[in-house]
Amino acid sequence: MCGIFGIVTDKEQALGPILTEAALRLTYRGYDSVGAATISGSKIDLRKDKGRIKDVAEAYNFAEMIGSRGITQLRWATFGEPSQVNSQPHLDSDGDLVGAHNGNVVNNVELRQQFAAEGMTVRSMNDGESCVHAVERYINKGFDFIEAIRRAYGDLQGDYSFVIGQINDDKLYAIKKGSGLVVGIGEGFTCVSSDLPSILPLTRKIMRLNDGEIITLSPDKVELHSVKDGSLIQREPETVTETMEAVQKGGYAHFMLKEIHEQSQVAREVLHMLDGSPDVAAVIEKMKAARNLYFIGCGTSYHACLIGAVYFAQIAGRPVIPVLAPQFTPQYAPTVTSKDVGLFVSQSGETKDVLNALEVAEAKGMACYGLANVIGSTLTRATVSSLPLCCGYEISVPATKTFTNQVVTFLYLAYRMAGRDTQELAAIPALMDKTLEMVAAQVETIAAEINGWNDLYCLGYGGTYPIALEGALKLKEITYAHCEGMLSTEFKHGPLSAVSQGFPILFAAGPQDVPLIVSGLNEVTCRGARAIAIGQDDPRLHANASDVIVLPQSAPEITPLLAVLPLQLLSYHMSVLRGYDPDFPRNLSKTLTVD
Ligand code: M6R
Repeated sequence: MCGIFGIVTDKEQALGPILTEAALRLTYRGYDSVGAATISGSKIDLRKDKGRIKDVAEAYNFAEMIGSRGITQLRWATFGEPSQVNSQPHLDSDGDLVGAHNGNVVNNVELRQQFAAEGMTVRSMNDGESCVHAVERYINKGFDFIEAIRRAYGDLQGDYSFVIGQINDDKLYAIKKGSGLVVGIGEGFTCVSSDLPSILPLTRKIMRLNDGEIITLSPDKVELHSVKDGSLIQREPETVTETMEAVQKGGYAHFMLKEIHEQSQVAREVLHMLDGSPDVAAVIEKMKAARNLYFIGCGTSYHACLIGAVYFAQIAGRPVIPVLAPQFTPQYAPTVTSKDVGLFVSQSGETKDVLNALEVAEAKGMACYGLANVIGSTLTRATVSSLPLCCGYEISVPATKTFTNQVVTFLYLAYRMAGRDTQELAAIPALMDKTLEMVAAQVETIAAEINGWNDLYCLGYGGTYPIALEGALKLKEITYAHCEGMLSTEFKHGPLSAVSQGFPILFAAGPQDVPLIVSGLNEVTCRGARAIAIGQDDPRLHANASDVIVLPQSAPEITPLLAVLPLQLLSYHMSVLRGYDPDFPRNLSKTLTVD
């Protein structure tokens, strides 16, 4: 994910402590390397290394750094391993410019070759350095800073923001393209940061930015230019009056709703990360060679394991055993050997049930890998290597964005196992946004209509069976209603007797499974049930279901990722309608560190 912060002040001062504090507030965006640069007249003081902010700031004594302009960056490695040289900020060839970025420059490899061929000094593998050289390229040709950034923008592909400064100047410059960036305006300083909460302790006077805007920060003012034609953009600053908590919710009523809407962005992040990660190839090789392959997790993470197993079978032709972590010890540990591979999946990386299974698996010599959101958690430290979920903080107890990124990761790994082009997955984030847009109003209406029921079913088949389990778990977790998730074909083997007039049953339908789902719909509607189908636009669903929540057209393997979104929204709205706080449901905790 990464985080950047830059500040311009009206006098030389100790900027190190200010940069360190800002970096601490942005820690959730990147943990593996950190750096700070201050500019004082014709000198740039640059200190950086891999490691966490507290350790690096202490080891390199950030506290003594002085200047009138400063930049700090926290890195979550995508291009280039975590190392001192790959840490940000970066210098240009002569050491006159210094800058740092947040996001991904996807043509980084080609650009580095071009810069080197043009005689520039390329020191790292990191795409943040490409942002600096892209500006240097045009400064060297005599363009002013705004024009140099405009031209650099044409060269840098991807979603990113960066901040950059030059010696013997009194300004910093930044640009926003697809990654978060906010301006702060205070007494004697202006600043720019990846998020709003990190600015609020300094000032409540802020300016929100749009993609394609170039920002010039002076000690007493901020100017915006359009990257399109260089024209000046007029915008008045605004004063933030909300509490810090409201600001952290980003304008949404609850963290859960915010996190539901963050899913497309974090999916984009994890896909970029996986494309650039040196660990993926090693994990894939190990999985290919494994005798048995186990995906192990609890709760929502287990549901992701179930989908992962479907993907591996359908896409890569590789059987996988998905396991609820506590069942690993009694059922599978007796036969596990060093020829087997386990992927341990956990948002928190601290779930005791998962760690117990990991301990047993390691004692048996199994090769153990992790898939976790919290880097530095026990799981990520105890496994051979661990892939990050790249979701930032997930505050709401019900998992949403970490679930979809677990599923995206499994889909990506299945593609890599099968040797398929992972670029096909680039459509996922936009499809997620489109889904939320298409279903939002209808789901809210249905939530109000079925909210009186305290007994529901959620059914699916194939890739949508785990989605049915996940939808049911979300409903149980935050509405306190009983909702059972089930394979659609199993419903007739017993639960069908529960159906009465208006009884709500949700069906998640993959496009290839519609004929089977249609049978299930008829079995329950003819007995008076309200059958709510979730699937792509299909006349057979419209003809047989009571309601159809239509998803955008997508490849069948992407449908589960989209089908879960209306189910998340449905449980959210029902929870709120019942007067509960979906973020903090009773009796539950985000991290379960007990047996
Ligand atoms: O942190 P983990 O992914 O290991 O947590 C596992 C479960 O406790 C968790 O997924 C739980 O089911 C969620 N709160 C569901 O939304």
